[in-house]
Amino acid sequence: MNVRDEYIKFFESKGHKQIPSSPIVPENDPTVLFNTAGMQPLVPYLMGEVHPYGKRLCDYQKCVRLTDLDEIGDGTHHTFFEMLGNWSLGDYFKHESIEYSFDFLTKVLNIPLERLAVTVFKGDENIPLDEVSADRWKELGISSDRIAYLDDNFWIAGDSGPCGSDTEIFYFRSDEEIPDKFDPEDERWVEIWNNVFMEFYKDENGNISELKQKNVDTGMGLERIVSVMEGVDDNYLSSIWKDVIDLICEITGLPYEGNEKAMRIVADHIRTATFIAADPAKVKPSNTDRGYILRRLIRRFIRYAKKLGIDINSDFDEKISLLIIDKYFKYYPELNDNKKEVLEVLKNEKVKFNRTLEKGLREFDKLLKNSNTVDKNIAFKLYDTYGFPIELTVEEAEVRGMDVDVDGFYEKFHEHQEKSRTASKGMFKGGLLGHSEIETKYHTATHLLNAALKKVVDSSCCQLGSNITTERMRFDFPCDHKLSDDEKKEVEDLVNKWIEEDYPVTKEEMSKDEAVKSGAECRFIEKYPDIVSVYSIGDFSKELCGGPHVSHTGEIGHFKIKKEQSSGAGVRRIKAIIE
Ligand code: SER
Repeated sequence: MNVRDEYIKFFESKGHKQIPSSPIVPENDPTVLFNTAGMQPLVPYLMGEVHPYGKRLCDYQKCVRLTDLDEIGDGTHHTFFEMLGNWSLGDYFKHESIEYSFDFLTKVLNIPLERLAVTVFKGDENIPLDEVSADRWKELGISSDRIAYLDDNFWIAGDSGPCGSDTEIFYFRSDEEIPDKFDPEDERWVEIWNNVFMEFYKDENGNISELKQKNVDTGMGLERIVSVMEGVDDNYLSSIWKDVIDLICEITGLPYEGNEKAMRIVADHIRTATFIAADPAKVKPSNTDRGYILRRLIRRFIRYAKKLGIDINSDFDEKISLLIIDKYFKYYPELNDNKKEVLEVLKNEKVKFNRTLEKGLREFDKLLKNSNTVDKNIAFKLYDTYGFPIELTVEEAEVRGMDVDVDGFYEKFHEHQEKSRTASKGMFKGGLLGHSEIETKYHTATHLLNAALKKVVDSSCCQLGSNITTERMRFDFPCDHKLSDDEKKEVEDLVNKWIEEDYPVTKEEMSKDEAVKSGAECRFIEKYPDIVSVYSIGDFSKELCGGPHVSHTGEIGHFKIKKEQSSGAGVRRIKAIIE
């Protein structure tokens, strides 16, 4: 059975529209690294914005979660995963949501009732115990013994945003006798589905208020449910992974048994790197943000491939990546479209990593010339600067007859991890809060700049890429020459003239076909859902866009070009600010 297809079919039969998976790198939002939950791209709609597809939605969403990257290697955690989700945006609530989940599990997947149990919110000083959900479960046949009331059945992404109590569904994954009473601490019960009843909004100070509408947000990890259905308790033995693991066994000539951890890491990280590199944002390995994560994933799988005795200069990673592309492109066509880039990213990073390793080893010897031990600072420097995981440092130290302060290393490592967790929480929060006023102004300024370049420089100018922070905007466009000072001034003046003339920014919703026919600039149209928003300003700008935008250009302020430079062959980049 194909759980993904059955899931979509079931929810479509209940009046839901399938929405396409959003990219893993959130669009127009530099504050969030990756989508970590199916609901993340839907935040504005949970807050009350009207969704073009209606009030009942379902999808499968690509997600990347990296909180414990260094702990990946067991049978149930992945850095990339897919979440099956269904939503009610101010439409049905607990009653139907619970019934749909129950019916899908027991009637479509045919899971026996006695293998199911649920948790519901116990209540706190602000919100009462969720009796409605508990009663609904009982009506459907879940016995009281199989319902646990917990304090932490309350879901929020990060620290603030839409939130609410949830009810989680568990499956008894063991051949042992099923206990009558459900104990959520008993690990034989595994969580398979989370239904969140999002009716509140938590602000940054922790104050909770009611949302405009009562929503449902559910999420079910595809890997987990597939392994449950296939009766395996190691996800890598399910049909999602089996052929990838088989390929790794073939490449190494080793069995999976006894080599699980390294093989899982190679499989998992190559898959995540493949998806990140194929995402429309075209992330490349680097030392910051998303690029850094991609770099760490690639370097970590290379190290584990080495451990498995793989010749890392062979094309093992290409073979595995191609198999992954082959398995998934039906659901994510961007994998096929960007195949070449993916393979290049893997190859180039491997070359760079080899160089760094060599440099690291030289540095290792230099740092340790006058010492018999590798102290915590050196061990951490090797990790942080040269990408030496502690095991590698220990191995190299052993060869040289030295000791390593491993505990001291972990002390520093955890301090560092704490710092980066706090930083990524901050990023997540920023993303959930949506776009700031200043970012909204930059979005509209981007359209004006695009239009001005067409008029001043060349009508073939268009947006090849853009990036907005609260400080500045960046805009890439095709152009075969460096802009002259006069051209820059003319562009700047024209944008400012349009700002002064205070044009309304109008938004129309239409099908993609209509958008193309209307003459709107439709870059990246394949990334958008069937119904798109087209923003027009005066008679000079008309672009398909996800927004957000100011309502009148006069709100933008003064536009100023700070820099104009090359950004690759035939591509120029403008950095501009608004004051
Ligand atoms: N947002 C909830 C989760 O991620 C349900 O989709 O678990």
